[in-house]
Amino acid sequence: MAAQSEAFLPEIEDLRRVSSAELDVLLEEEAYVWDSEYMWDFRPSADLVRRFVQMQSLSGFALRLGRELTGYAYHVFEDHKGLIGDFYVRPGPHSGAYEMMLLSAVVQGLIRTPGVRRIESQLLLLGASKDVPIPFERYAARFDRQFMTIRQNAIRKLAPKTPTFRARLVPWNDRLHEDTAHLISGAYRGHVDSEINDQYRNIPGARRFLTNIVRFPGCGRFAPAASIVAIDEGTGRVCGVCLASLVSTASGHITQLCTLPAVRGTCLGYELLRRSLLELLNLGCSMASLTVTRSNTEAIRLYDSVGFRYYSTFPAIVWEGF
Ligand SMILES: CC(C)(COP(=O)(O)OP(=O)(O)OC[C@H]1O[C@@H](n2cnc3c(N)ncnc32)[C@H](O)[C@@H]1OP(=O)(O)O)[C@@H](O)C(=O)NCCC(=O)NCCS
Repeated sequence: MAAQSEAFLPEIEDLRRVSSAELDVLLEEEAYVWDSEYMWDFRPSADLVRRFVQMQSLSGFALRLGRELTGYAYHVFEDHKGLIGDFYVRPGPHSGAYEMMLLSAVVQGLIRTPGVRRIESQLLLLGASKDVPIPFERYAARFDRQFMTIRQNAIRKLAPKTPTFRARLVPWNDRLHEDTAHLISGAYRGHVDSEINDQYRNIPGARRFLTNIVRFPGCGRFAPAASIVAIDEGTGRVCGVCLASLVSTASGHITQLCTLPAVRGTCLGYELLRRSLLELLNLGCSMASLTVTRSNTEAIRLYDSVGFRYYSTFPAIVWEGF
């Protein structure tokens, strides 16, 4: 089969011309990779992709090799921004080159779309080495991010600490949405992560970020009981948050951790994270994961000291100024 595939040159095809039956094989392979490598149940996301492909309403491209599809990517729009929602190329001897071909098609398509001024991506399953040139490199900024995991025995060992800042820690409640959006835009002012995700730069963006996390399954199923909010006892305002989702029956994911600059270094971040992780265990998880930008040494130091271990590096790439 491999020899037969090598006889073909890869071709880019509009995702709207691909049948969901054809894409199924790839989606199942991709689900296997998410499950075996990241303890992440991709099936809810795959079902959504399948549904939109069936309706021929998902924008993106597939990479065809002879009669088979060997990769696909889709994108969505948010105001002036194109977001690469998913990106998968079957591993193989030429997959690095195929990945760049597919990425090139997606980015070119978005650059040519009227109104799109920025493209964001977080390519967790990209296999190509760091040295391979990024398509449209002159417009691109690359940020390395790492995937980290922690096992249940490490979580159980975490000692409680009393933050030196007086705050009440409560489980997530939808009424805290607005105040938490204010916290996020304050916590990420001038932060590298707001270069990667421009939703962090202002309150409407932070609101949308929270809505995506709480309502949609892209980052797992939101777990309100394991999402802890810190409320400043003096002002009654939200001053820290740790949000968590279930990404499989046995695995949780920390989708957000931040505290206001004024309360940092008081153990609030530690305590929010510890309580979220313990609640994830109560929900049946045996492990948890998170992603963090490599240059965010403050956060990485906290994660290391809590017992998170490095698992893999992947790029977040942003294109702008085209
Ligand atoms: C990362 C972040 C959440 C940490 O929050 P925090 O409230 O400062 O966390 P803590 O106070 O629990 O711990 C931070 C450090 O302060 C230290 N610390 C805790 N209490 C302290 C005290 N009373 N005096 C001095 N230092 C203290 C901790 O030991 C820890 O140091 P260490 O890393 O050497 O172990 C916070 O810096 C933040 O919001 N950053 C911006 C958003 C961000 O990057 N989020 C992570 C995205 S992946």
